[in-house]
Amino acid sequence: MRQRRRAEDMAILGGNPAFDRLIPVGQLYFPAWDRYEEDMRSIFERGWFADGGPLARRFEEELARFFGVRHAIAVTNATFGLSLVAKALGISGGVVLPAWTFIATAQSMTWAGLTPILADVDPSTQMIGTEEIDQAIANAKGEHRVGAILAVNLWGGAASPKRIEKYADDMGVPLFFDSAQAVGCISEDGKLGGFGRAEVFSLHATKILSSAEGGVITTNDDDLAAKCRNISSSCGDETPTAIPLTASGCFTEAQAAVGLANLEQFDDHVMRNRMTRDVYRAILSDLQGFRLLEHSGVVASNDSYINCIVDENELGLNAAMLTQVLHAEAVVSRRYFNPGIHRSTPYAHSPSLVNGQGGYPNTDALSMGVIQLPVGALAGPEEAEVIGELILAACRFSIRIRQRLA
Ligand SMILES: Cc1ncc(COP(=O)(O)O)c(C=O)c1O
Repeated sequence: MRQRRRAEDMAILGGNPAFDRLIPVGQLYFPAWDRYEEDMRSIFERGWFADGGPLARRFEEELARFFGVRHAIAVTNATFGLSLVAKALGISGGVVLPAWTFIATAQSMTWAGLTPILADVDPSTQMIGTEEIDQAIANAKGEHRVGAILAVNLWGGAASPKRIEKYADDMGVPLFFDSAQAVGCISEDGKLGGFGRAEVFSLHATKILSSAEGGVITTNDDDLAAKCRNISSSCGDETPTAIPLTASGCFTEAQAAVGLANLEQFDDHVMRNRMTRDVYRAILSDLQGFRLLEHSGVVASNDSYINCIVDENELGLNAAMLTQVLHAEAVVSRRYFNPGIHRSTPYAHSPSLVNGQGGYPNTDALSMGVIQLPVGALAGPEEAEVIGELILAACRFSIRIRQRLA
């Protein structure tokens, strides 16, 4: 049995780090080298590296089956995919989106020439619902015409897609989803991928389905799919369509090779993440002032985020302090998202901030209290056991740690 950690064992108090390598927060699943090498060899033999190559096409077909949609369009990354969908939909004016999300959600709209209209989130789900969208539109006081709604499916959960769809339909504006974190999640309304006009998923290395870097747009709308293809690539679609402009959002064969191999392993990766989560839960569920967020709005999550809320009064340490404690142990926990979009450049002093500074209390509270713990290829059940115990120890020695950090 492992010995109970003493204060002097803690790296922040002078001990040695618990790990001799960095434990990253992201997924970082890579395929077996042999499998990748085989595909790379075939790419070199064909001499076809980018723009609609055979591996990319096969990956898109497999993704369409995986998501249960008519079209899956692989692109450079999800940030570009979101801008691209906004252009393809011909949106103008303002786009309602949450203040509590990764900065790329808002910035992709700014790149597309649109104005983010920020909504606060429901603190229990950390996502926007129809009430939050209503409130954001009311706060905008007609200053910005609402051109679309961009809902975010966060932390392997889902933001009530059908309810928001009905809301957007009643309002007569297009709805699309930033599902960057939600590959493979099954919401209470069905598998994510086919909701709204389109959804955009990230295939970045830190995500559950990685093509090393990349993103995928999913939609059941043939015309929208053709527009996305024509905007994204000089090869375009077999169906020429009128589009406002083009860009280069090519998905390479090398990305497709990583993506295809990782797709085969998807269920195994989720299973490993689930086991890791179970370990964290078993160790930390009784800890006062430390709460592991359960996935919201889904019947099956991809389990790729361990989202925790720290209450300083009860735990004795705040999220920033706990992050420092873990970093000293070579554990790269992260304070996503800190600060919220409304306090980030370039939005903090922008007229698009329709609700004013301090107008996002739930986002502010989450950005102070939330941390993400490592889970993924390099952080499995064994690492979770050590990290869980480090957190328990940090709580036991919180007074000394506070003194040290002061
Ligand atoms: C909610 C959200 N939106 C957008 C993105 C951007 O994804 P990408 O890195 O593929 O551009 C991310 C990536 O972390 C994300 O978490």
